[in-house]
Amino acid sequence: MTEKEKRDLVLRAREAMLLAYAPYSGCRVGAALLAESGKIYTGFNIENASFTPTVCAERSAFIRALHEGERKFSALAVIGENTVLPEAGGLFYPCGVCRQFMREFCPLDFTILVADSAGERFEEMTLDALLPHGFGPENVKGEKSK
Ligand code: THU
Repeated sequence: MTEKEKRDLVLRAREAMLLAYAPYSGCRVGAALLAESGKIYTGFNIENASFTPTVCAERSAFIRALHEGERKFSALAVIGENTVLPEAGGLFYPCGVCRQFMREFCPLDFTILVADSAGERFEEMTLDALLPHGFGPENVKGEKSK
């Protein structure tokens, strides 16, 4: 992936972030998922008055892509901003549930870009770094492909 492609993915995530439905936390999060097909699928967090049904931006993006028949993925950009407590600042690293969700569909070297709220800078990491010693499909189905 070129630097320009990475920056573009972050910008797509930022556009999605602006559409987030986050009336309870005030944390707007956006994600942009690059499939191996070359298509990009975006998602944002969707909160709920009952809290538990809340869906993160990352899983929103994956679910859209999976519905379109995509099964292989190359990279994900994540970006967030806390509109209630901006001083909380920091980066929105994927939550544990999203890391496990990705483990189902992505290789260990899957690229994750975690951007600052302006989308100007990002950290790059692998899924393996975010979910070491993870439990994946090969542990259930005996696949050696990961
Ligand atoms: N959130 C995400 O969308 N992705 C993450 O990986 C971290 C958390 C959302 C969920 C909730 O709507 C808000 O951020 C505050 O937790």
